[in-house]
Amino acid sequence: MSRNSHEKTLAALGVTQAEQVAPLFAHLLSQANADLNAANSAETFEKFRVHWFGRKAGVVTLVGDNWLKPAVRELKPAVGQELNKFKAQLEARMEARRAAIESGAEQAVSAKDRVELSLPGVLRPIGSRHLIRQVFQEIEDIFVSIGFSVVEGPEIETPYYNFEALNIPEFHPVRDDMDTFYVEAANESGSQTPPGSLLLRTHTSPVQIRTMERQKPPVRVIVPGKVYRRDNPDATHSFMFHQIEGLAVDTDITFCDFTGTIEYFVKQYFGPSVKTRFRPSYFPFTEPSVEFDVSCIFCGGSGAAANGTTCGKCKGSEWIELFGAGMVDPAVYGFVNYDAKKLSGFAFGMGMDRLAMLKYGIDDIQAFFQNDVRFLKQFP
Ligand code: PHE
Repeated sequence: MSRNSHEKTLAALGVTQAEQVAPLFAHLLSQANADLNAANSAETFEKFRVHWFGRKAGVVTLVGDNWLKPAVRELKPAVGQELNKFKAQLEARMEARRAAIESGAEQAVSAKDRVELSLPGVLRPIGSRHLIRQVFQEIEDIFVSIGFSVVEGPEIETPYYNFEALNIPEFHPVRDDMDTFYVEAANESGSQTPPGSLLLRTHTSPVQIRTMERQKPPVRVIVPGKVYRRDNPDATHSFMFHQIEGLAVDTDITFCDFTGTIEYFVKQYFGPSVKTRFRPSYFPFTEPSVEFDVSCIFCGGSGAAANGTTCGKCKGSEWIELFGAGMVDPAVYGFVNYDAKKLSGFAFGMGMDRLAMLKYGIDDIQAFFQNDVRFLKQFP
């Protein structure tokens, strides 16, 4: 019997006797079972449902339209009974199939999502603090232990704070050493700042001014931070590097307090066996100004390397230049409304990168900024 028997009437199928009706439905049911067994997913099941039970053109509807309705009197009861039986049987099987497909889908999903607890898992490398950060912390700890507090200031500065208020007027020759990057940015109201009115600070010294503007003496602060200069990169230069500024101002601070503080710091940082010395120097915002040196930490201040040749680090000079410092120039107090007659103080500005390089034996400042994991891993 053909697959589309339900599209014809019983008369057209040659069914005239009641006995012929049951085999007709049996055949239909075997077709439906075959279709149902092939439906193994939600999509194929839905196709099955539409084909057999679709309201308008499903097989069951068509059987009703083509077989039952036009059936002759003698056949109608048999066709009606068989059709009801057929529907009930097929519906029961269909429900069972639907349940099987749904639970199968659930199992498939949970198998995919299941966590395999015996696998070793993904070990993600744990990062560490950059050496520069570690050294900042080390130096901050030393100064905090003797009564200094830590403050910070902006990296984008005005020429006033970076130069003028530090007693460096326009066209002063030291500005040549501190050539920097000028930035033009939109200010709060959205308009462009005039050219030359903002720069990347060349040192942390502007925070001296900002601190004294903000608080009355006594002042004891250190200022860690990034600074910028128009330098070409090489083993000892970078257009961005780090400084730590120090400032102490009070009514009775002497040059002795100054050298004593520096010496304490240097011995804490490099170890008690190092010696310090200072040489006269010049900064517009300190008077007198000095350059602090430490006895060479590589040759122990002897000037000679282990094999008897000249120490390559201090070049036989026995000393290594550390940083600039001095007593605060009274002119600076004038910019912050401090009484220069009553107050005195000292300031220093240390190159952080240099201090880290000396202590940890690093000979190229660029290593700090290349972020090569092989380098970083050495300072966990
Ligand atoms: N700001 C100076 C520099 O960057 C260093 C310094 C700071 C010198 C404080 C004296 C006092 O070169």
